[in-house]
Amino acid sequence: MFAVHLVSFFFSKLQEDPTKKVDRFLYAMRLHDDQLKDISARFQAEMKKGLSSESNAAAAVKMLPTHVRSTPDGTEKGQFLALDLGGSKFKVLQVKVREGMGIKRGGVEMEERTYPIPKELLIGKGTELFGHVSESLKDFLHQRNISLEKKHPLAFTFSFPCEQTALDQGFLLDWGKNYRPRGLQGKDVVQTLREAIDRTGGLDVEVLAMVNDTVATMMTCGFDDEYCEVGLIIGTGTNACYMEELRHIDLVEGDEGRMCVNTEWGGFGDDDSLNDYITEFDRDVDAASNNPGKQIFEKMISGMYLGELVRLVVLKMAKLGLLFDGRVSDALRTKGKITTAHVAAMEEYKNGLKNTKDILTELDLNPTSDDCIAVQHVSTIVSFRSSNLAAAGLAAILSRIKQNRNLRSLRITVGVDGTVYKTHPQYPKRLHKVVRRLLPECHVRFVLSDSGSSKGAALVSAVAQRLASQRRQVDETLAPFRLSQEQLQLVKARMRAGLEAGLKSKGPSTIKMLPSFVYRTPDGTEKGKYLALDLGGTNFRALLVNFKKGLQHNARLYHKIYTIPQEIMQGTGEEGTLVSWTKGYKATDCEGHDVVSLLREAIKRRNEFDLDIVAVVNDTVGTMMSCAYEDPQCEIGLIAGTGTNVCYMEELKNIKKTEHKFGKTEKGEKEEDMVEGTEGEKNEGDAEIPKMCINTEWGGLGDDGSLDDIITPYDVEVRSILQQLGLNSTCDDSIIVKEVCGAVSRRAAQLCGAGMAAVVEKIRENRGLDHLNITVGVDGALYKLHPHFAGVLQETARILAPQCNVTFLPSEEGSGKGAALITAVARQKHD
Ligand code: BG6
Ligand code: GLC
Repeated sequence: MFAVHLVSFFFSKLQEDPTKKVDRFLYAMRLHDDQLKDISARFQAEMKKGLSSESNAAAAVKMLPTHVRSTPDGTEKGQFLALDLGGSKFKVLQVKVREGMGIKRGGVEMEERTYPIPKELLIGKGTELFGHVSESLKDFLHQRNISLEKKHPLAFTFSFPCEQTALDQGFLLDWGKNYRPRGLQGKDVVQTLREAIDRTGGLDVEVLAMVNDTVATMMTCGFDDEYCEVGLIIGTGTNACYMEELRHIDLVEGDEGRMCVNTEWGGFGDDDSLNDYITEFDRDVDAASNNPGKQIFEKMISGMYLGELVRLVVLKMAKLGLLFDGRVSDALRTKGKITTAHVAAMEEYKNGLKNTKDILTELDLNPTSDDCIAVQHVSTIVSFRSSNLAAAGLAAILSRIKQNRNLRSLRITVGVDGTVYKTHPQYPKRLHKVVRRLLPECHVRFVLSDSGSSKGAALVSAVAQRLASQRRQVDETLAPFRLSQEQLQLVKARMRAGLEAGLKSKGPSTIKMLPSFVYRTPDGTEKGKYLALDLGGTNFRALLVNFKKGLQHNARLYHKIYTIPQEIMQGTGEEGTLVSWTKGYKATDCEGHDVVSLLREAIKRRNEFDLDIVAVVNDTVGTMMSCAYEDPQCEIGLIAGTGTNVCYMEELKNIKKTEHKFGKTEKGEKEEDMVEGTEGEKNEGDAEIPKMCINTEWGGLGDDGSLDDIITPYDVEVRSILQQLGLNSTCDDSIIVKEVCGAVSRRAAQLCGAGMAAVVEKIRENRGLDHLNITVGVDGALYKLHPHFAGVLQETARILAPQCNVTFLPSEEGSGKGAALITAVARQKHD
């Protein structure tokens, strides 16, 4: 009975599709989507680890910053020599990039020559290898009749992991693939190349940039496709790079824009994190390699190892009697006898089986047609696993980019190169399909870098040259915005002169120095309920402020915001008294219109409630009052928002203009009476001195041409620059625009600080003090929202008024509360 079973078992085996036994045998290599997603997630975690400064040293995936910050924009130009070392061929090239033309339109011309590298140099002294490189370069120049005298910029593609500190400096971390020269690890490769070129002599070459092949590939493809922000190599080795947000790259300072990161993904798994996916064949390949324990992911994927994996599987199957009737040849036992080219040939669409038979026969094997089918299937499983793993890694990179940019879907192009991708008939399709299956929400385009990576390396150098000249232009353009200490001292002096002139002048002056008839700042004991109307922009705020008796600094605020209808805002004064109040608000100060009576009349007309209107104030005064309620040292109010202005408490004796300019105050008293009647409200530190708040209207400084020497042409045009933002701006453009904004707002803060220094110095001198402690109440979006404005303002005031200690106190409630306080202060005086 047993014998019958055994026979039928063998019979059924004989009948079986030969691919089935291979499927069973290589079960662990056939990865399904859940496993690929798991690998992808692990790789994502590894990327994070490599990017963080805390874990980078121990990370298996190195995530090396490349100092390549932008992809080409098509405006690059120039002639470059290029060296391409580390792939299956060593090449010397001349690359000409014509301005403004894509590669396809003939924008880049290349001439190249491959130079064989003698085997002994791969395992000899590093300096000898580089000597060969520079000799080859010299030979190339000679062969092509390229002048030896002229200085030639040179770009270097170097396909090994390097820790780069700049585009033209990179320390070799490790050799890999079939390279193992001595004495270069930890050394600066660019410097080594420069020294070799010097030793060769007769060459005037400037090494501008060194790039990894992944980066160069991304750049090559990026020249024609602006979406290309990933470079992928599946060749002798495998690796990928992509554009990462700079803020995530701990190892590089700065948080603006992006930088290309060379992942060195070949090292994924070197810390055993892929052990559950590693087969006995992977272990054998690793053990027999140049670099055991290293580049575990690479050894499962790249061209240097695919053939070897197939050989080891076939050998083991033969030994187990699953192939060739159990016969094994010496050739099959020999390392390197099956290559990636063989794998590709075995999987050819039409000739695949015939090729397999030829290859096996070459190996002194005598395959049956089932053997051929089985061995072809081994190849398929091994190369399929390779493309699946590459797809998992790529999916991790793409989803990271998508997350970085907070996008729901991502449109991106991957530039690809390498012999496996280029020569294996099924590889690209399989890879694309799996990536798209793993990331259905991404629109991924794959572009083959048809001419290798040297073009890209030349482009990196060209971009570096373009950026250097752009930097020069930006610096030149922004130079006038960068104010020197001397210029700021001048602004301060002119502001001071303007303040004095404004106080004295009886006619118009650039700095108007308008009296506000506010004689005292609050002391916190104010009481009562006050209604304030605060009009700014499109919003009109009505506030009820309740200063509770006995509760110092404890005002309760109730407010309601009304939006002013467009028709009223733009209508005639007849339509709304409130608007005419708004417009009259400033007019009161300048021309003497009495908005208070207008408002009073309006309220009377409505006949609904009774109000005693005491004060109408400029927003600077409101701000000062509101802050002074919290801080008795506050005697200055500053607005840095849509407009800018300052008010401060000036001594009455210095205000010469009031008698002439204003006849009446709000209370209907004679102005002069008010001035004389104010016997000096109590104010700590300088009691007894009668003061009045002056609204400087300092925005007028320069109206008479007194600032012409620091005004830039852009002060006339600054908007047109910003309008360009609407154009399709690149990351670089945005950084430049931000830099422009930074320079402009820094200058604004400095000018404000210089003006403030003039004001506080004046107050200090008024009081005859060596040192003045004073608080400035501030309001306005520029001060409150701009990240650096407040800091620069304070710093400038500190430097230009060293004898004053100026504290800036942001106003919490806007000027409405201040307006109520003015009324409260005035009330107290009259009570
Ligand atoms: C080539 C590049 O096109 O691709 C090389 O010019 C690079 O620098 C290579 O290393 C990767 O492929 P392979 O198969 O030659 O290692
Ligand atoms: C190896 C190198 C890497 C290179 C890749 C492809 O993995 O370490 O720098 O990009 O091969 O050539």
